[in-house]
Amino acid sequence: MKKIKILDKSFSKPISCLTAYSPSIANILDGKIDLILVGDSLGSTLYGMNNTQGVTMDMMKNHGAAVNKEIKKSLKVLDMPYKTYNNKTDAYKNAKILLNHCNPDLLKIEISEKKLFILKHLVDKKVNIISHIGVTPQSYKNFNKIKVLGKTSKEKDNLLKLAQESEKLGAKAVLLECMTANTAKLITENISIPTIGIGASRYCDGQVLVFDDLINLSLNDKKPRFVKNYFNFNKIAGDVVRKYNREVKLKKFPSNKFTYN
Ligand code: KIV
Repeated sequence: MKKIKILDKSFSKPISCLTAYSPSIANILDGKIDLILVGDSLGSTLYGMNNTQGVTMDMMKNHGAAVNKEIKKSLKVLDMPYKTYNNKTDAYKNAKILLNHCNPDLLKIEISEKKLFILKHLVDKKVNIISHIGVTPQSYKNFNKIKVLGKTSKEKDNLLKLAQESEKLGAKAVLLECMTANTAKLITENISIPTIGIGASRYCDGQVLVFDDLINLSLNDKKPRFVKNYFNFNKIAGDVVRKYNREVKLKKFPSNKFTYN
């Protein structure tokens, strides 16, 4: 895979995206998928927080910079954390810090109607933005309260308007989280920038998942319906740990092979 320069209307579809919070995972993903997202899902997935509201600029800076070093080919996307883009001044100041520190190709912000002016401001300042709409996790203290959106025509219309406004204001793509297939289809057919879905059906122009969910590394027992487990790392790693423990107890490890003479 060659280095992709920019996410725009001509971007080859469907688009694949996964999260990476560490250099080792970024190294595995680079060049094999189109976009790598340093998502603020790291708050719950990596730091064991109940939600993403406790994620700080320092966390995003540290993980973003570490991941950045390993990405040579895929496009890099970084989340702006909760409450760091509440007004224009903070939004641009914090966007610049993340851009300078982590060098992502795009920043992602969670958008509601009230936040569209922030999207416009950042685009006016030449920041490449992905507009995250639908279920926006930063609005939830308790993830159990999350419900699929777009079931009523009012919700569907509002989401379509938000996606169309995001396009009009210059977003490079719209991320659709947790909505009915009909809603995602309607949005995808009525905007020309790419839609990237998570729990938003195959009608989107691309798909994103949290890498830890893909390999069953996350602790979350009750996985959302949209998560597909491709590999049971949890079980395999558990078996390896049991084997190591047995060998230590039986004094089989370290054998001569693993010993300096
Ligand atoms: O933070 C994140 O990882 C995300 C994805 C779930 C889309 O925003």
